[in-house]
Amino acid sequence: MRAVVVYESLWGNTAAIARAIAEGLGSGTRCLSTREATPEAIAGCDLIVAGSPVIAFRMPSAKVRDSLRNESGAPRPPDLSHPPMREWLASLTPGKGHSAAFDTRAKGPFGSAAPAIAKALGAAGYQPIAKGRGFIVTGKFGPLREGEIERARAWGKELAEAARRA
Ligand SMILES: Cc1cc2nc3c(=O)[nH]c(=O)nc-3n(C[C@H](O)[C@H](O)[C@H](O)COP(=O)(O)O)c2cc1C
Repeated sequence: MRAVVVYESLWGNTAAIARAIAEGLGSGTRCLSTREATPEAIAGCDLIVAGSPVIAFRMPSAKVRDSLRNESGAPRPPDLSHPPMREWLASLTPGKGHSAAFDTRAKGPFGSAAPAIAKALGAAGYQPIAKGRGFIVTGKFGPLREGEIERARAWGKELAEAARRA
């Protein structure tokens, strides 16, 4: 199985979850930002797992990201070096394979991103093999709640099993 985990992450929480999911999926799984996940990098993938943070109740738009440059209370400026997940999904080359979606968010309900990501992956031909997952942060900018990294690794293992069965 060729699996890839693709993320958008402004303050590092979603990137950390993405790395843990990739570990759970097994060796050989690549973990790429939306900038690194070029069409060449994705070509021939059997499983795409994609995630973003929830900002202002949804997957962040370019406009919302722009407004975060001077967000008060931030430990550091947001990492805007990679494009929004929205843009990455909109330009995803249609393929044939499986998918799963995740997001990181506050303990809510204050919206989600995983369902919209799952929908876009499905529309591109990557059929969901699992229900989307939300991973929780304890403060506005993180950190992740205790145990979330382990939960992400375990979910990666589950996804590998589900992809083998599918
Ligand atoms: C400006 C801002 C707005 C946020 N809005 C929401 C929200 O509407 N719903 C939610 O559940 N979490 C919200 N959060 C929490 C983020 O989803 C959480 O910190 C996320 O893990 C950030 O991911 P990242 O570190 O990968 O960028 C917000 C955080 C910030 C900084």
